[in-house]
Amino acid sequence: MKLSARLSAAVGASALVLGAFAGAAPVASASEQAVTPPDISVANVKQHLTDLQSIATANGGNRAHGRTGYKASIDFVKGKLDAAGYTTTLQTFTYNGATGYNLIADWPGGDPNQVVMSGSHLDSVTAGPGINDNGSGSAAILETALAVSRAQFQPTKHLRFGWWGAEELGLVGSKYYVNNLPAAERSKISGYLNFDMIGSPNPGYFVYDDDPTIEQTFKTYFAGLGVPTEIETEGDGRSDHAPFKNVGIPVGGLFSGADYTKTAAQAQKWGGTSGQAFDRCYHSSCDTTANINDTALDRNADAIAYAVWNLSSGSTTPPTGTVFENTADVSVPDNGAAVTSSVTVSGVTGNAPTNLAVGVNIVHTYIGDLVVDLIAPDGSVYNLHNRTGGSADNINQTYTVNASSEVANGVWKLRVQDKASVDTGYINSFKLTFP
Ligand code: TRP
Ligand code: ZN
Ligand code: CA
Repeated sequence: MKLSARLSAAVGASALVLGAFAGAAPVASASEQAVTPPDISVANVKQHLTDLQSIATANGGNRAHGRTGYKASIDFVKGKLDAAGYTTTLQTFTYNGATGYNLIADWPGGDPNQVVMSGSHLDSVTAGPGINDNGSGSAAILETALAVSRAQFQPTKHLRFGWWGAEELGLVGSKYYVNNLPAAERSKISGYLNFDMIGSPNPGYFVYDDDPTIEQTFKTYFAGLGVPTEIETEGDGRSDHAPFKNVGIPVGGLFSGADYTKTAAQAQKWGGTSGQAFDRCYHSSCDTTANINDTALDRNADAIAYAVWNLSSGSTTPPTGTVFENTADVSVPDNGAAVTSSVTVSGVTGNAPTNLAVGVNIVHTYIGDLVVDLIAPDGSVYNLHNRTGGSADNINQTYTVNASSEVANGVWKLRVQDKASVDTGYINSFKLTFP
């Protein structure tokens, strides 16, 4: 019953998506006028991996939370970023009786209300040096950040990078960061890009199936290389994007595979060895600099730079004008009655505009369950979302509605109904912007 309901919902999928990346240009324009980032030197990325390996070797063979190799890794990354002109913040937390560290690096400039953040966990397990998991993501975003500095890139949006502690103990550092970020700061993050394992020795090319704009940006890059990609399915929510996603921030990322086995079909399209794990050294002592596929590392590092440049360069500014917003959470009952969030518009003369910006932020684990409508003060209904998007999480986008036949002043409602059982969520915020 549930399955057939979901299949029929998926069949009806159509494109009402107007700009999923909050406040940003739709991806169509990103691909039409793609910005060209500098080529990321895989040699430089590999040098960072060699340095992380040396740190592990000098500190008992690992870079795990609470061990000296972790703090040395943080100091290493911080030193490079400070020298390159970043504003860095060392955030400390305590876990298992030991001090943990997150490193946050802000590139000065850009719109502070539109932050494009990239992150990777810097800790390893205690069993080994953690070069693929996750020196690879850490080194690639470090090199991307250094490339931003070398280019003196001045994007429209603000760039932030994060290196997380204690991921291997349950996403501890990234949860701490998100939990301690005030709501006003969370809502400024237009997107969070996660990179955890991107140089697997028997690689696959997996793209997270979360925010459609971020996902499409990565797919466009790989399509340009002629490299097929697949959706990441090896344990959704198993990395540091999960805490961001759980509070409604659009997320995306890349992954080259961990302990799952490469199929024959995957070996056919990507090369490598079928019947063998993507990373046979996952969480073990052999996750050294020898455990890296240079081609995968190179392609993924270039894809990161492509996404950072393009997602931060949108020439469109967020809707400006008079904003009416309701940020109270309204829980949406599972397969139940419709609920609403209201805003009262006052002081606007005449009718609503042809381009009323309707900001919708719904945290939900299966947006294919949802019907979302805008209700004008006189009861007119404008459908915004009708059970498209399948199993994707969260709606966080601005719809443009021609509301010119409606009187502006009065109570406007966002109506949300969940029409299938199991997955649930809540309205996080509802916002109308009158230009
Ligand atoms: N560090 C992750 C972990 O140990 C590795 C991982 C497994 C992963 N599956 C993933 C990372 C999927 C990103 C996406 O759990
Ligand atoms: Zn990892
Ligand atoms: Ca549901």
